[in-house]
Amino acid sequence: MRKKVIAGNWKMNMLPNEAISFIENIAPMVKDTKNEVILCVPYVDLFYSLLTSQNTNIKIGAQNMHWEESGAYTGEVSGKMLQSIGVEYVVIGHSERRQYFADTDETVNKKVRAALANELKPIICVGETLEIREQGKQNEVITTQTRLALEAVEASKLENVLIAYEPIWAIGTGKTATAEDANSAIKAIRGEVAKIYGEPIASNLTILYGGSVKADNSKELFETSDIDGGLVGGASLKVEEFAKICLSV
Ligand code: 13P
Repeated sequence: MRKKVIAGNWKMNMLPNEAISFIENIAPMVKDTKNEVILCVPYVDLFYSLLTSQNTNIKIGAQNMHWEESGAYTGEVSGKMLQSIGVEYVVIGHSERRQYFADTDETVNKKVRAALANELKPIICVGETLEIREQGKQNEVITTQTRLALEAVEASKLENVLIAYEPIWAIGTGKTATAEDANSAIKAIRGEVAKIYGEPIASNLTILYGGSVKADNSKELFETSDIDGGLVGGASLKVEEFAKICLSV
C-alpha cells in the first residue's frame, strides 16, 4: 500500500517570519496524520522552516536546484548545498521553471540524477499544455517527459523518486482535472515506469496530482486508484485549507 503524500509548493511566496508562523500553526493540526506532509519553500525560508519543523512530522523541500555541486553559476543553489542543511525533498522541472527559466527534459534529468546523488528525493513534475490535451496527445507527452527525466537513473534509486502530474491548464486556473482524467494520466505514467523498471517498482512509486487542488476536491482525487496525493500551490498558503487537504484522506 502506497503512503499518501501531500506536498505544498509555496512558489515565490512567504517571508521567513510567515513560514515560521505557518509551520508553528499547522504542525499541531496535522500531527496525527499517517500521510507524508511536505512544504516546498523558497530558498531563503529553508533554514527557518527546517528549524521550526524539528520534532514535527512536517518535511521540508526546495523548489529547484542546480545539477553541479559547486562552481561559477551565479545565483544557483546545488543539491549538495540543500543536503548540507537537511533538506529532504526538491521539486524538479515544475512547468513554471520549464516555461520561464529554460528547464528542459535534459536539464531536468541532470537535476534528478544530481538530487539522488545527494540523497535528496526529487519530486519530478510532468504535464501537458491545453493545446496538447485538446489534441488528445497528453499521455504521449507525459510519458515522454517521464522517460527522459528518468534516463540513466538506476532502479535502486526509484524508491526515492516521486512524480507529480500537473496539467499546465489546471495550474492556478481553478480548473481541476476530473479525478477520472487525472487518475488515467497517472496510470499512463505508472505504465511507462513499469516498461522501464518493471511492475513492482512502478506499483511502489508515489505519483501525485497537482493543479487547483483544494480542500473541497482533494478527497475525491486522492481516493482514486493511482493518485497518491497532491502537489498543492495556492491552497498550501492557507493554514486551515492546507491542513484540511492533508487530513482529507
Ligand atoms: P495551484 O494549486 O495553485 O493550481 O498550483 C499547482 C502547482 O503548480 C503546484 O506545484
